Amino acid sequence: MHYHMRMSSARKQEPVLLVHGGAWAIPEDAAAAHEAGVRSALEAGYAILKRGGTALDAVEAAVTGMEDDPTFDAGRGSFLTHDGRVQLDALLMDGGRMKAGGVACVERLRNPIQAARLVLEESPHVYFVGAGAEEFARQHGMTLIDNSELVLERERERLAAAQAREAAGLADDTFSGHRDDKSPETACGAEMTSHDTVGAVALDAAGNLAAATSTGGTLNKTPGRVGDSSLIGCGCYADNEAAAVSLTGWGEPIMKLVLGKWATDHVAAGMAPETAACEAIGYLFRRLGGHGGIILLGPDGRFGMAHNTPAMAWGVATAAGLRTGLRA
Ligand code: GLY
Repeated sequence: MHYHMRMSSARKQEPVLLVHGGAWAIPEDAAAAHEAGVRSALEAGYAILKRGGTALDAVEAAVTGMEDDPTFDAGRGSFLTHDGRVQLDALLMDGGRMKAGGVACVERLRNPIQAARLVLEESPHVYFVGAGAEEFARQHGMTLIDNSELVLERERERLAAAQAREAAGLADDTFSGHRDDKSPETACGAEMTSHDTVGAVALDAAGNLAAATSTGGTLNKTPGRVGDSSLIGCGCYADNEAAAVSLTGWGEPIMKLVLGKWATDHVAAGMAPETAACEAIGYLFRRLGGHGGIILLGPDGRFGMAHNTPAMAWGVATAAGLRTGLRA
């Protein structure tokens, strides 16, 4: 198992933005696209923070950029469901107002994070799914598209290969989201060959935290399956009195541990974010054999990130500049 962590600190109220673009065995030929994708997401989000914008606007802009980038498993270019469709989940949370908005299993929205923002701002509810989520977004001005606009030929081929393995009895059951085995030998399977979820956490000049996470979920998933990314406290959480967090990785173990809230609770209890990030990934593996990555940002600007996959696309923007990498 690999642990990786990077730590830093920023002066109080100095804006900070962290992004991730998935934790897995990112191959050499995809490395440049991943770093370029997280860099451009950082630039979009940090420009907002630099001019005094909100953390919520910054994480929405950063995640929108990664949804638009077909490199990532979010928005167009996401993994396909068992029946060959894209089904998207997204959540964002404002740690100052303690407001959240989420959507799941949407098929006709190019940017589900923007629909989640509409839920946060315009609805007394917190979470919409499927056709109801799409209709809510349409009523609030979003364009509904055909699902085929989100589907890439690359993903049709990837799905066909996974289903061929399944038919041959060679399927790695992690591809179906059924693995619940904590042995390291089996735990390293599909998580090392899959790309993943995108996310961002931010602290703005007013001292507010926000988090956003968006995903196409797991390859060959059963239609209707929802992972950790859009569930509050699992793949995403923000509270000014604790921390902001976004996770990536195989969703089922993360959900069962409510891992985002676990990490932010530890920061609220006094643990440094850099330590809590590492501890959270340690807990994920120790308790359920899970693999993934985390970005975690405290209200004082200290942050941490960790992953136990071979790589995680990450980026950090502070007053000191922008940094990106594939190994935290
Ligand atoms: N982490 C993304 C998912 O499992 O859906």
